[in-house]
Amino acid sequence: MCGIVGYVGPRPVRDVVIEGLSRLEYRGYDSAGIASVEDGAIHVEKAVGRLSNLVDRLSDEGAFSGHIGIGHTRWATHGRPSDDNAHPHRDCRGRFAIVHNGIVENYLQLREDLLAKGHRFTSETDTEVVAHLMEELDTGDLFTTMMAVARQIRGAYALVAMSAEDPNTLVALRKSSPLVVGLGTGENFVASDIPAILEYTRDVYVLDDGQMAVVTRDGVQCFTLEGQPVAKDVLHVAWDPVAAERGGYDHFMLKEIHEQPKAIRDTLSGRISPDGTRVVLDELGWSTEFIQSIDRIHIVACGTSWHAGLVGKAVMERFAQIPVNVEVASEYRYSHPLQTDHTLVVVITQSGETADTLAALRDSKARGRRVLAITNVIGSSAAREADAVLLTLAGPEIAVASTKAYTTQLVALYLLGLYLAQVRGTVDDQTLQEVLSALVSLPQAAEQVLDAAPRIEQFALDYQDARDCFFIGRGLDYALSLEGALKLKEISYIHAEAYAAGELKHGTLALITEGVPVIALATQTHLYEKTLSNIKEVKARDAFVLGLTFAGDDELQKSVDEVIYLPQTMPVVAPIVTVIPLQLLAYYAAVVRGNDVDKPRNLAKSVTVE
Ligand code: G6P
Repeated sequence: MCGIVGYVGPRPVRDVVIEGLSRLEYRGYDSAGIASVEDGAIHVEKAVGRLSNLVDRLSDEGAFSGHIGIGHTRWATHGRPSDDNAHPHRDCRGRFAIVHNGIVENYLQLREDLLAKGHRFTSETDTEVVAHLMEELDTGDLFTTMMAVARQIRGAYALVAMSAEDPNTLVALRKSSPLVVGLGTGENFVASDIPAILEYTRDVYVLDDGQMAVVTRDGVQCFTLEGQPVAKDVLHVAWDPVAAERGGYDHFMLKEIHEQPKAIRDTLSGRISPDGTRVVLDELGWSTEFIQSIDRIHIVACGTSWHAGLVGKAVMERFAQIPVNVEVASEYRYSHPLQTDHTLVVVITQSGETADTLAALRDSKARGRRVLAITNVIGSSAAREADAVLLTLAGPEIAVASTKAYTTQLVALYLLGLYLAQVRGTVDDQTLQEVLSALVSLPQAAEQVLDAAPRIEQFALDYQDARDCFFIGRGLDYALSLEGALKLKEISYIHAEAYAAGELKHGTLALITEGVPVIALATQTHLYEKTLSNIKEVKARDAFVLGLTFAGDDELQKSVDEVIYLPQTMPVVAPIVTVIPLQLLAYYAAVVRGNDVDKPRNLAKSVTVE
């Protein structure tokens, strides 16, 4: 949460910072701010609300046209969204400016000490103590000043600092919150995430935890927070800058929904043998002996990634015959999980930076477990810290509501489950080939299901005033229902709940009254009749039921009000296509209600605080 940009080079700082922040708004959009050094002084402008409010305030063309600066987009933790609480923050004399992502955990104590020394605070944030500490610990050199600051503060931070006395240098520090340094020619960049600087460079240093960088126009030097020089490898990012553009779509979310056929194809690519008979996951570097030894799997994730894990559990238990627990990361880390010596921990995280998921990864590693990360971001903390990585190739996902990352996580989990099964000999060749061939046909099926968009849009229009919506299904359809309900809640703000279809009658059926929309998923053939009975139960209470089933099913239409037909595919891989109408439903419901689809209220895409 919170996005940071820093720039030093010949371009007007305002252009680079505003452009960069616009790519990072998914990290938070409670306020935005910019600071630069010009004529020996630090200039700051900030505005509560969206970045556009800040841009409106920068009406003077000449403002912030200097060549060194920092910017910030905030997701509020300490202190409500306001101009005062917006970053950058300054010290009393206004000689330093700082932007921060994370939480300074000992800020109250530091604040008291600083108040006693006569410092005056203008915000309620934890961050402001950093600016005052800089003033207090000033060595006359920004680098050593920041080292001294780092010795005093506890918690998680990505910080970028600037001094009026040294208008050529930014100092960036990282502890637990992500930070990359973009390498240009005669210019350099700092950012929370790669899309912010992709337009200018694809070569980056990813700062490790406990590292800092001194960034000038002509170079970047990296150190530990204690000041020991460190040599960094340049990471070349393959993402195309155009991939981070809206490309003619009204919203990133719609674009990302439509990118799913390609994202699925890319994630499968090279991971199935050309004759379609084997999964090829040599990239994991696992021995047969290790794979044979796994006696349980713990999947740990948050939000949509957790929902992907629920599908993963079904796949792995069925094919690899390994017991799987799927845990919400914020619970897992404090729950004394029962890991055996042979437990494989799989963390799923689009961003690779979710604080709770990373904590679960680190705790598990500290206990000696092997950890696999399924992530979309090369160079992310999860990718760098896990023992093995399975990259999803969704490309940059910008909309806060996750779509293509989810479908590619599912692809990765299917590949993983089948690979484990193949090596452990728990799947027969014919079944393996059938499932692999079903996976290969998914990109085309995903293309076809996108054609249902106009009907879903109409449904969203008809039900735009709905207060509640229910999603029901059994087996994999239940896991999908959870994701459908989450999508609808997060962007349309319609209250939605998902139920295992057979569970509804144990209480929640009391909420089903005339006209309440129920989305009923019926793609799991072996559970079809049972699901149909549950659908009849809600129909008998006059719900309005939208059913989802495969093309060729003539039965469902007799029991529901409307049907969306999915292209025929093997039920076990159906989630990858079934989710698409659910994503479209949430999208259109949000659009008709006039919501900011890509930036839903109170949320942020990358949750780097606990
Ligand atoms: C946030 C996002 C969700 C996402 C979750 C986990 O809540 O809004 O879309 O599913 O974080 O993120 P991760 O990057 O770990 O998958």
